[in-house]
Amino acid sequence: MQVIRQVHHMARLAQAFKRAGKTLGLVPTMGALHDGHMSLIRAAHRQTQVTVVSLFVNPLQFGPKEDYARYPRDLRRDLNLAKAGGCDLIFAPDASQMYPGGFCTFVEVEGLSDRLEGASRAGHFRGVTTVVMKLLHVVQPSVAYFGQKDYQQALLIRRMVKDLNVPVAIRLMPTVREPDGLAMSSRNAYLTSEERRHATVLYRALCAAKARIRAGERNPRRVVEAMRELLRRARAVRVEYLAVADAATLEPLKTLRREVVVLVAARVGSTRLIDNLLVGVS
Ligand code: PAF
Repeated sequence: MQVIRQVHHMARLAQAFKRAGKTLGLVPTMGALHDGHMSLIRAAHRQTQVTVVSLFVNPLQFGPKEDYARYPRDLRRDLNLAKAGGCDLIFAPDASQMYPGGFCTFVEVEGLSDRLEGASRAGHFRGVTTVVMKLLHVVQPSVAYFGQKDYQQALLIRRMVKDLNVPVAIRLMPTVREPDGLAMSSRNAYLTSEERRHATVLYRALCAAKARIRAGERNPRRVVEAMRELLRRARAVRVEYLAVADAATLEPLKTLRREVVVLVAARVGSTRLIDNLLVGVS
């Protein structure tokens, strides 16, 4: 497995693979790899001929009061895990490679970027779409892999590649969970053991919402109220938003129909966690 630090080196290698007729699969990550990332790396390894994993903690997607400086970084561990998952090339640029002096071009998906995560984290999605667009240009993969846990992010990236005619398939892989249901996230490492116990309430609230919808509830307000009630009882959990939205557009709905996504963002102690579940409405 080769580790590449420079943009021009990565681009040259990717072009050589493409000229040789190979398909590339890209797994964009910010490192601190966990089983969720591993499922993406393994899928890329199965489905494409050259698996590229990017490790880059992207400063552009963190707000000034967010955790950029303390985001977990362990390159050696990440390299071992990526290799075990079948990764062929690691792309690990530093910020000056990705954003050299004078950098001033950004990619923004309007509308969809403003609600839910976008409303809570101003500028976050502009940072995500800009870095993902750059990674897609440099690596030129046939397929790029994202996790369902960041559902809004994946919808935005799908919209971006469609609108900008980027020739790549965006594959969304299911959220990987701990045995008690907590969605895998690099930020789970911040939780104290007590907070870690409380954090499972997020998944339980999503499951309660799903059960209500499956039982025939079609009013999104009542579904959200039921989740809020459950979350209210959990000490150390502060809800940022709860929503039931159309799964394709994230538009709010008056009556639930087709496929919906139930979403939650909450602080557990000082750690911000998000999760979601897709629910088919018959
Ligand atoms: O999901 C993430 O880890 C990041 O948002 C991504 C897609 C790697 C862009 O920095």
